[in-house]
Amino acid sequence: MKMETRIIELAKQLEPYIIERRRDFHMHPEIRFEEVRTSQIVEEELKKFGYKVIRTAGTGVIGILRGGSKGGKTVALRADMDALPIQEENDVPYKSKVPGKMHACGHDAHTAMLLGAARILAEIKDDLEGTVKLIFQPGEEGGAGAKNIVEEGHLDDVDAIFGIHVWAQLPSGVIATRKGPIMASSDGYVIRIKGKGGHAAHPHLANDPTNPATDIYNALQKIVSRNVNPFSPLVITTPVIKASHEYNVIPGVVEIKGTLRTFDMELRNKVMTRIKKIVEFYSKAWDCEGTIELFRIPYPPTVNDPKLAEFVMEIAKKLGSVVEAEPTMGAEDFAFYLQKAPGVFIFLGIRNEEKGIVYPHHHPKFDVDESVLWKGTAMYSLLACEFGTFE
Ligand code: NI
Repeated sequence: MKMETRIIELAKQLEPYIIERRRDFHMHPEIRFEEVRTSQIVEEELKKFGYKVIRTAGTGVIGILRGGSKGGKTVALRADMDALPIQEENDVPYKSKVPGKMHACGHDAHTAMLLGAARILAEIKDDLEGTVKLIFQPGEEGGAGAKNIVEEGHLDDVDAIFGIHVWAQLPSGVIATRKGPIMASSDGYVIRIKGKGGHAAHPHLANDPTNPATDIYNALQKIVSRNVNPFSPLVITTPVIKASHEYNVIPGVVEIKGTLRTFDMELRNKVMTRIKKIVEFYSKAWDCEGTIELFRIPYPPTVNDPKLAEFVMEIAKKLGSVVEAEPTMGAEDFAFYLQKAPGVFIFLGIRNEEKGIVYPHHHPKFDVDESVLWKGTAMYSLLACEFGTFE
């Protein structure tokens, strides 16, 4: 039997295992850097399949498998394991058992799919060329877990890395990727404007920071239209504004919180400098003090290697429908791996209208069409297997 046929058959046979694992992880969600139970199960499974296991980034696990042929290249496959602080609203038998926590991004599915691939790769080990590194990472959601793994040196010997994300905007089973930028950079900033609080009836005795704050809010919107090439996508969204809590109280401080997204780090740096100037000078004009700081680790844009993206598209065709992915302003810490090694981030469609699986990522009713998870497992396995002989 041809190797690819064998891999696809094995993935289909493993479907019950993958779904069982996914449901177990779904029922026991753990948020960033608390993935103790999940990582323990992953470690046990990998050891059972014959992998050398190392721990990384606190609650991360890496499984290493050397193929039958000596030498060769090292390919990494990545799944993220963390859940979100969201109360699940699905009424399903595998509903989250943890109040206020839920797998609302599908990382439970990623972990299960990669465990499925771990089993297949172990089974075909003698026919594999080179080394396979399976990265089960913690803290993707705002934790930049990938950055820790890169800094610990686990990507130093990696020739290519591939990651799959289940994708609610794509119909079930459709695989999508693209050359170049696929996901945006992401910054989270907090602006603080200090003035002098007081009674709303006597504004001249206070120094109302709400005054420059509203100007700053509006000025940020002008960056997009007045300061940036119209062909360069840029998003500035500032959804948090904390001013006074009472109609008759002038606050001493106003806090503004938002996010900046682009596909270009140079543009990102330029815009950050502009935001800083706007905050400082608009505040100064009213004798207030304005500061800006980042409250989370910035994620760079996720940029796929063009040649490897073609390689991925060719392999995906063996599993059915493949489309070119639309770039998204969403962000991914997979970007940190791609700064270190070439690779590709891939979307797997899980949207199924008939099953009522239509909710977006991070929604309390988000769910995954499990009937396509074997495809993720097959995809991971095919990538690892065929990269060995890819020129
Ligand atoms: Ni995600």
